[in-house]
Amino acid sequence: MSAAGLSAAELDGVQKTWKVLNDKKQQSGMDILVTLYDKNAGYQDKFPKWKGVPLGSLPGNADFQNFAVVWMDEVNSLVGNLNNEGALVALIASNVSKHKPRGLTPQHYKNAFNLLPAYLDKQCGGAYDGNAKSGWTKTIATIAGAIEKQF
Ligand code: HEM
Repeated sequence: MSAAGLSAAELDGVQKTWKVLNDKKQQSGMDILVTLYDKNAGYQDKFPKWKGVPLGSLPGNADFQNFAVVWMDEVNSLVGNLNNEGALVALIASNVSKHKPRGLTPQHYKNAFNLLPAYLDKQCGGAYDGNAKSGWTKTIATIAGAIEKQF
């Protein structure tokens, strides 16, 4: 069992399916963030550099493209440190310190992480199997729980 309570098969499922997204880092990040803005009124407005840019034009916006990579790298670090509680808490503390002053809450984070399962399913096809699914449920719960503790 890992620190996040994943079995070896679940951890393998999470890592394999995350790799599919991370191998197309910029595209994955842009897809997830566009969906986040589309589903949550006001979220895009929190980002001064691309506030007000029509959703359909975001993939052509250089600042947004760069941020999509930064965002994916952050999630990659979190997912890669699931078994290293100290590193995970340090990463999350640093991340929350940049979000909390902007008025963001644990619910904002949850609304972002909760987009992952459907996107993983769409991108990974059969590899997003039962172990991957339950592994991701535990992964998201672990990260969301650690975020909540920082508020
Ligand atoms: C999965 C959850 C999230 C991750 C991993 C994440 C990651 C990041 C990272 C790595 C940065 C750059 C921080 C820096 O300056 O070094 C950032 C900035 C920022 N994030 Fe998040 N974020 C998440 C969720 C959200 C959500 C839901 C919002 C809300 C609307 C948000 C709003 C922002 C804003 C406004 C900035 C500053 C952008 C700028 O002006 O440069 N984040 N985020």
